[in-house]
Amino acid sequence: MPGLIPQEIIDRILDANDIAEIISGYIPLKRAGRNFRALCPFHHEKTPSFMVSPDRQIYHCFGCGAGGNVFSFLMKYERMEFPEAVEMLAKKVGIAIPKTEAPEKNAGVTEKLFTINELAGKFYHDILFNSKEVGSIRVYLEKRGITPETAKKFKLGFAPDKWDTLLNYLRGKNFSLSLIDKSGLVSSRDDASGYYDRFRDRIIFPIFDIKDRIVAFGARVTKDTLPKYINSPETPIYVKGKNLYGLNFTKDEIRKQDAVVVVEGYLDFIIPYQAGIRNIVASLGTALTIEQIRILKRYTQNAVILFDPDLAGELATLRSLDLFLSQDMNVKLVTLPKGFDPDSFVREKGVDKLKELINESVDLFDYKLNLLKNKYDMRKAQGKAKIAGEMLSTISRIKNEVIKESYLKKLSDILSVREDTLLKELSKVKDGMSSIDYESISSDSKTFNAKAVEKMVVKLMLEQEDLISQLRERLEVSDFQDPHIKKIVCSMLDLNSQGKKIEVSRLMNNFDDQEICDTLTHLCLSEECREIDKQKAFDDCVNRIKQENIKEKRNQLRGEIKIAETQGNKDRLNQLIQEYNCLIKR
Ligand code: CTP
Ligand code: MN
Repeated sequence: MPGLIPQEIIDRILDANDIAEIISGYIPLKRAGRNFRALCPFHHEKTPSFMVSPDRQIYHCFGCGAGGNVFSFLMKYERMEFPEAVEMLAKKVGIAIPKTEAPEKNAGVTEKLFTINELAGKFYHDILFNSKEVGSIRVYLEKRGITPETAKKFKLGFAPDKWDTLLNYLRGKNFSLSLIDKSGLVSSRDDASGYYDRFRDRIIFPIFDIKDRIVAFGARVTKDTLPKYINSPETPIYVKGKNLYGLNFTKDEIRKQDAVVVVEGYLDFIIPYQAGIRNIVASLGTALTIEQIRILKRYTQNAVILFDPDLAGELATLRSLDLFLSQDMNVKLVTLPKGFDPDSFVREKGVDKLKELINESVDLFDYKLNLLKNKYDMRKAQGKAKIAGEMLSTISRIKNEVIKESYLKKLSDILSVREDTLLKELSKVKDGMSSIDYESISSDSKTFNAKAVEKMVVKLMLEQEDLISQLRERLEVSDFQDPHIKKIVCSMLDLNSQGKKIEVSRLMNNFDDQEICDTLTHLCLSEECREIDKQKAFDDCVNRIKQENIKEKRNQLRGEIKIAETQGNKDRLNQLIQEYNCLIKR
């Protein structure tokens, strides 16, 4: 998490604060050997799986997988940005943060982009409400059931059918063209002769972030022309798939009701919201991303997805919902009757009918199972195997062992397949996300699980530092497959070559990806590999990674050889065969 605060200062602040003391200011901690234990503040649980390690100055929850150092704890718990968390802890221990003279070039840009969006939002909004020429647009909104109050609340607007109204307005406010370009509100002409307004003759939906700032816009035509919607491109302040429409308005209610209703479109959010469903967000057309799910999880563990009936039957869509389970969320599904989306359903059938459907929503597990039962013949072995495979891939995502077991039992009953048979199958679909289990990855096991082996290597290096220099001799960072592990290994090698001791709590400040921190803290605080010979395990894992890379390379060469053969390219063929033989000898 690079920022403007010098690294040494960040390290000093980290060293001067004790994570156990800080966290115990928020939740009661209980001693458990060298660590502390507590009920996790980030997910609901009855038995404590949240661990704080004073030795390592990190925390990790074995239930929901969240982990990090004291900064990440505050960021997550207090919903602070990194600099805020650093500042707060600096104050606590009386360390002064020097003001940097020349802030990074980009520092001002973000602020300016927010200002531009704010102004553009107001500009479009004023046109919708005050311009005489757009009476027909106001009528359109009225026809769609949007009251003026609602339109005001969500700052809806209208972009006129001209090429440069917004551009001229923003230029008049003295913003540079390059900055306006960065905002995504304009497009550049093909011949690079200048810019024109991106949104024309469209209703404008500002997209807000959690702090009520406008980060982007969506824009809908009012006729039947295509494309129906266009949206802002990604900008320095807008990354697609990382925010949820409307959450700024509904987060408190989501927390209060401890449930969230997830819909797709702008209107599918606005109309039910207006009718009184206040714990709702919209994904804006995309399949939900893991980041969006993580954001939701800060507020609740219970999600109800209102499904587009066209998609409801799609296994691929359901598979993407498995993501929720990997985050320990409970997911339920509502399929609307054919031809309806949440917006039209509320307007035609009333909000109470929608609430009824939400109350009757079906658990993802049952939903998926029913779907599969209709698709495959459960009386035949083949059908059973198909259903088991699909369901086990869902079950494998579940971290909570109790829930996992109850689902397994259910599946075993329904398919009349013994539970231990299912368990055996389950171990095949494991993706290395769950626990680190040396048995399952040692060279005797037939399937190679890259992520698990790579994690094991990192774990061993964390436990025994001299293994890091051994790794440098024997593998390249590029030999690793998992992008997160790659980053971790890279940082560890880096620190090691500078002769620095690896301190996980510091290491973590190098990554701004929460998932990397979760993985790291899990590796650190999961049980030490005491039972095994670490050197031998390390050798074993390194060799497996090597072998796997050779295998990969061999396959690739074989493919290239085939191509060279069909093309009759003899020189290339000879060269490839030589390479191939070399590889085999190794
Ligand atoms: N969407 C988009 N770009 C498109 C089509 C859709 O970004 N070309 C997104 C929008 O956020 C939209 C959502 O996907 O709200 C759902 O799309 P769709 O169901 O087609 O539209 P509705 O939201 O139902 O819009 P309306 O009711 O106004 O027709
Ligand atoms: Mn619609």
